[in-house]
Amino acid sequence: MSHHDHPNAELGPLQIAELPKDKVARFDAALPEILKRYPADHKEAAMLAALRRAQEIFGWLSPAAQRLVADRLGAPVTRAEEVATFYVMYHTRPVGRHVVEVCTNVSCSLAGGYDIFEDLKRKLGVENGGTTGDGRITLRQVECLGSCGTAPAMLVDEEMHEGLTSQSVAKILGALP
Ligand code: FES
Repeated sequence: MSHHDHPNAELGPLQIAELPKDKVARFDAALPEILKRYPADHKEAAMLAALRRAQEIFGWLSPAAQRLVADRLGAPVTRAEEVATFYVMYHTRPVGRHVVEVCTNVSCSLAGGYDIFEDLKRKLGVENGGTTGDGRITLRQVECLGSCGTAPAMLVDEEMHEGLTSQSVAKILGALP
């Protein structure tokens, strides 16, 4: 079999090992919930959900991240690649220098998280998943970050910020290089 016949043939299994281990662990921890929601006869839906979760965790769907998802779902890598490149909500290219992920789940929304997200969209001039024109910030809406007790919460480059106010958000983002 030549590379021409199989575009993923050059992607070795080592690629998964090149992903940050803590993020792979986060993905694996999230997987049972996804598989529970989408049983075996809904594999396609599980693929969509798993890619979405992988993107939230890894920032974008690199070939390695696509391979990880395919591997965990027991699907061909080509399938993960097809889905990831077909839908606009998936990023198959790197994101901005900083990734700002605002939780808009129930606890955070009740505490103002959704307003913070909408406010940031307006200030940065981007939609959900969008990157500012200067490539500085990618803004993303995410599901519960596990900081509901100190809502609203956001992750900035994997660092958790809690008890957010519009002032503290402005200060945190202003301090980013
Ligand atoms: S609902 Fe936002 S951290 Fe849980």
